[in-house]
Amino acid sequence: MRSYLGMIGIICVAVIAVVLLALPASAEKQFTNLANKKKFEIKRGFSKEANECIECHLKKMPGVVEAWKSSKMAHAGVSCYDCHVVEKSSPMASQCEGLKGKKTYISPMVSSKTCSRCHPEEVDQFLKSGHAELAGAPVIDKAKFQTLMYKHEGAESLGVKKGSPANRAARATGCQMCHGTKVELGPDNKPINETWPGGVGTRYPDGSIGTCTVCHTRHSFSIVESRKPEACASCHLGPDHPNIEIYLESKHGQIYLTQGDEWNWDSAPDTWEPGDYTAPTCATCHMSGIGDLATTHNVNERLKWDLVHPRSEIRKNERGNGEKGDKLMRKVCANCHGKTHTDVQRRNLDNAVALYNTYFDGAVKMEKDLKAKGLLKKDPWKDGFLELKYYLWHHTGRRARQGAAMGAPDYAHWHGFFQIFQVYKDMEDIYNWRIKNKKIEDLSTVMSPGPM
Ligand code: HEC
Ligand code: HEC
Ligand code: HEC
Ligand code: HEC
Ligand code: HEC
Ligand code: HEC
Ligand code: HEC
Ligand code: HEC
Repeated sequence: MRSYLGMIGIICVAVIAVVLLALPASAEKQFTNLANKKKFEIKRGFSKEANECIECHLKKMPGVVEAWKSSKMAHAGVSCYDCHVVEKSSPMASQCEGLKGKKTYISPMVSSKTCSRCHPEEVDQFLKSGHAELAGAPVIDKAKFQTLMYKHEGAESLGVKKGSPANRAARATGCQMCHGTKVELGPDNKPINETWPGGVGTRYPDGSIGTCTVCHTRHSFSIVESRKPEACASCHLGPDHPNIEIYLESKHGQIYLTQGDEWNWDSAPDTWEPGDYTAPTCATCHMSGIGDLATTHNVNERLKWDLVHPRSEIRKNERGNGEKGDKLMRKVCANCHGKTHTDVQRRNLDNAVALYNTYFDGAVKMEKDLKAKGLLKKDPWKDGFLELKYYLWHHTGRRARQGAAMGAPDYAHWHGFFQIFQVYKDMEDIYNWRIKNKKIEDLSTVMSPGPM
């Protein structure tokens, strides 16, 4: 509720700003067009400088202007000028074709810092979440992933030169588009080396972090879009974190697919409640206000377990607070389910984690033993045992854990525990063979990409 009141405050300030900006331009009534999106008149309500950007871009880049015109922010007087103009001294300052020779500087890069001028609470919460600094970390900070992206995927072993365009391709077209990367600049302050655009945890040259538009895509910045599961699906999918597949196979997804067209998606921020919908989407459980919970842009807040790393532990430190997360997630369910039902679901999750961890601990024990006896290869991607261990936790293990967490029996079972025990048995065979023969078998027995 607090953030809703805050939003009304922002809207009032914005409307006053629009009135002030509009007054010198004309004494006529200014707002008759704002109520009607179809007749939205861009000439009114914006400063002369802002109008220049809009008018030229309407001719040169109509797609951007048309999308922006449909946004609530356009109707509140927020334009290209507010988000793209930067000080000349900004490390990101450059000029577009239309501004050459003028005193105005812009940047195509717009981070969460720009949004924080008007949406400070959302940005604060976002920056504390796994979607900000932690999301960029694997691609930017961690040496073992540099080896994966450039040495293995970037084909250095086939002679592709380190740092060359081909070498960067796997990072630039894959990891970076979901996780983000660190933007590098050329002499004209424009991004180079395909380090922009990027995913949710992108790190910008002015030290700011985060791309808000991954869920509210530019330039319509829609709250409706972010409430739909498709907003998460561009990243949360595939063999290693099939969250959209899990959702669509759950009962909640069944209801969304069959009844979602009739739901009311456009309620004001923090007032989207059961009644507007009859089953939850990703946003409902992980972000939106519901009952006495307020909206949060910190997706870690309502989580108990870490279901993404090799061994599942209760969340702590920078990954959140698992005990608190458990209580908050239960509050989400309580809007539509009784205590008996919710207790079963939460117990099922705890039990699935315990079962998975048993397999994982067994795998680690075998691995330690092999390592001590010198029976592991240096390159894990050429060692059948280690490759299977990767699929055990990263693919099938995550599917089992996340399928169990979000009510998808097919993922919990057939893509999950069913394959876990098979992978495990194959690992045992390799382990036993190596111990008995005191050597590593000649060929990797694993058929990449392994179990789907
Ligand atoms: C509410 C803030 C906001 C407003 C208003 C806005 N933009 Fe953007 N724009 C963004 C964000 C965010 C990005 C993505 C930047 C990133 O990923 O670093 C972007 C990206 C862009 C890009 C580069 C991406 C591409 O596809 O080439 C262009 C060009 C652009 N905007 C033009 C405009 C124009 C023209 C307007 C006015 C009609 C406008 N923007 C209004 C926030 C805004
Ligand atoms: C007279 C026409 C014109 C005016 C005025 C104009 N632009 Fe542009 N702008 C362009 C064209 C054409 C491009 C595409 C070519 C380029 O990137 O330089 C462009 C590109 C951009 C880009 C993307 C730059 C990139 O590196 O990808 C942004 C952001 C942008 N303009 C914002 C603005 C803003 C903000 C204003 C107002 C302060 C503005 N423009 C005024 C014509 C104009
Ligand atoms: C200059 C102030 C300002 C800036 C900068 C700004 N916003 Fe907004 N934003 C607003 C106002 C005012 C509203 C409320 C509009 C309304 O509800 O009529 C709003 C509403 C929104 C909404 C809700 C839209 C809906 O459908 O209800 C989203 C999402 C949003 N902004 C995202 C962003 C993002 C992302 C950025 C940065 C790229 C950003 N804003 C930058 C002022 C701003
Ligand atoms: C399709 C989008 C996508 C691509 C491509 C992608 N990831 Fe991820 N990655 C995700 C998502 C989503 C998660 C979070 C899953 C979860 O929480 O269950 C994740 C989780 C991770 C994690 C665990 C969380 C952490 O920070 O410790 C690591 C490490 C990781 N990815 C590294 C990479 C690397 C390195 C690449 C490229 C070699 C890559 N990812 C490619 C979407 C992607
Ligand atoms: C992971 C997806 C996601 C990302 C990333 C994201 N948002 Fe949102 N945002 C949402 C959802 C979902 C809602 C709707 C909450 C509801 O149901 O009321 C929302 C709502 C909003 C609103 C409306 C007011 C409110 O708080 O409910 C604003 C403003 C907003 N977001 C701004 C931002 C800004 C700024 C960023 C970047 C820091 C950002 N968003 C990043 C998903 C996202
Ligand atoms: C642009 C890609 C992208 C989009 C869109 C996206 N996410 Fe994520 N998400 C990620 C990545 C990457 C991670 C892994 C972060 C890390 O490395 O720790 C992640 C992690 C998470 C996590 C776990 C956080 C943690 O610390 O373990 C949750 C929960 C989550 N996302 C929910 C959502 C929801 C809900 C939506 C849609 C409303 C969404 N995400 C949209 C990329 C995305
Ligand atoms: C019915 C509520 C609900 C819905 C709908 C839902 N989730 Fe979840 N999600 C959960 C619960 C519960 C967990 C496990 C939380 C815990 O550990 O307590 C979870 C866990 C996750 C995780 C694992 C976090 C980690 O790394 O440990 C990700 C990622 C995620 N959800 C993303 C999504 C996405 C994306 C969608 C939509 C496609 C979605 N969720 C739909 C309730 C939901
Ligand atoms: C907005 C309402 C709503 C919320 C919130 C919600 N659910 Fe549901 N859930 C439903 C509906 C409706 C069904 C379908 C019942 C049926 O199959 O007839 C359902 C079904 C289920 C099912 C399938 C088993 C069954 O009862 O048929 C599971 C498991 C489930 N929910 C778990 C959860 C968990 C766990 C949470 C909280 C993290 C949650 N739900 C939050 C509405 C909701």
